[in-house]
Amino acid sequence: MFIVFEGIDGTGKSTQAKLLSDWLTQKGIKHILTREPGGCPSAEDIRKLVLEKCFLPATDLLLMIAARNEHWHNTIKPALERQEWVICDRYIDSTRIYQGCLADIPQHVIDTIHDLLSLSVKPDHVFILTLDINKAMERIHVRLKKDRYDHFDRAYYKKLHDGFESLGNKGARYHLIDASRHIDEVHDDILRYLA
Ligand code: TYD
Repeated sequence: MFIVFEGIDGTGKSTQAKLLSDWLTQKGIKHILTREPGGCPSAEDIRKLVLEKCFLPATDLLLMIAARNEHWHNTIKPALERQEWVICDRYIDSTRIYQGCLADIPQHVIDTIHDLLSLSVKPDHVFILTLDINKAMERIHVRLKKDRYDHFDRAYYKKLHDGFESLGNKGARYHLIDASRHIDEVHDDILRYLA
């Protein structure tokens, strides 16, 4: 199984990914928990760069894909080949939303580069955690994170929010999950889909 968590910042993706990982550990199911951008040393180096500095949108796109290329070949593909589950905090849909919907890079450009690098792998399940924009912004401000993606206005979050919600129409592998509920309820919902 290749499982991806997606969503606007502040929805609790990382918490849910960790809860699922703990559940799999309890069940004795071998898996890795990983994230993007990052997930292997070379991609984590790119992560630092891309979250600290400001680049042109196309440069950002290429750096995100460069990180994904490293991550896929060094971490995800080997784990899947070992028959382990992969739980990944963000994958290609984040690029479609952040670099595509937000930065106005056409989707076909994003898809073509991924296709050329054989990175257009379809996860078995994509859980999109959705949250009312006000709540998401509140959570982000509480966290006071310093990376540059967390300092934008309401219009920015609206675009992101709508982009992620639109993923719900992409087919049976995509699940919209209401992340405003208690952490345990959200977790149970995710387990129900996997069951
Ligand atoms: P991170 O701290 O991992 O996310 P979160 O804020 O959800 O905890 O930050 C990663 C940031 O990188 C996030 O704001 C989204 C952005 N990003 C892209 O712009 N494009 C991508 O392809 C990916 C994977 C992430």
